[in-house]
Amino acid sequence: MHITAEIQEAVTFIQSKCDQKPTIGIILGSGLGPFADTLENAIRISYNEIPHFARSEAVGHANELVIGEIAGKVVVAMKGRFHYYEGYSLDQVTFPVRVMKMLGIEKLIITNACGAVNTNFKPGDLMLITDHINLTGNNPLMGPNNAELGVRFLDVSEVYSKKLRGIVAGVAEKMGITLQNGVYAWWSGPTYETPAEVRMIRTLGADAVGMSTVPEAIIARHSGIETIGISCLTNMACGILDQPLGHEEVIETAERVKGTFLKLVTESIAQF
Ligand code: HPA
Repeated sequence: MHITAEIQEAVTFIQSKCDQKPTIGIILGSGLGPFADTLENAIRISYNEIPHFARSEAVGHANELVIGEIAGKVVVAMKGRFHYYEGYSLDQVTFPVRVMKMLGIEKLIITNACGAVNTNFKPGDLMLITDHINLTGNNPLMGPNNAELGVRFLDVSEVYSKKLRGIVAGVAEKMGITLQNGVYAWWSGPTYETPAEVRMIRTLGADAVGMSTVPEAIIARHSGIETIGISCLTNMACGILDQPLGHEEVIETAERVKGTFLKLVTESIAQF
């Protein structure tokens, strides 16, 4: 089936369950899902019910789309995302962004848990993504371009909106929240990086490394959505501290900063 017809089918299904029209989307990374539970008058739709969404088997991930109100806006939240390392194609990983665009969103907040490469950062810091480096050698726009969806050769000089970044930075300052700025490197995973790879990534100019966000941000840009990325630096990247890294640490840190993250995002949405 043609991609635009697939997007339309998913949108028609979602609209049959919900008559609110979202203007802001948010993709919630590891441990940050609780934001979706703060939406009011919310309806929840399991990914498994939505036509053409990838089938998700992940245990412990809600994998649901939640549409509801917060700070006077209607928001569509993705509680759980599809990752490249799970074996999904980048079309599958980014399909929900196309769907959110057709649902009516104008702005997208992409969040993630990631490792700090910049040694001035510490676990638990939040980071506004200023730019990214794609280390995977793949790109979600590879293949024939659909001109109905966007241009062939996309300008990516400002993937993460300066205007929205300014708003989020202002909110953080006003609320006394430490907010780092930095470049996010996209690592395919599912292995974490070796210490040598982390040194390479730092040399290349990145401040943080993670396994998501970039494909969704590229498609959001292609779709003309104003986008920002907020990372939760859950750990120092491998080799910086003389200790092994595990998923428990990632989840534990995200859990610890969840409250601050919720406040920052909610107040930013109020001002978007
Ligand atoms: N590297 C890659 N992805 C991650 C990390 C990391 O250190 N922490 C959380 N997600």
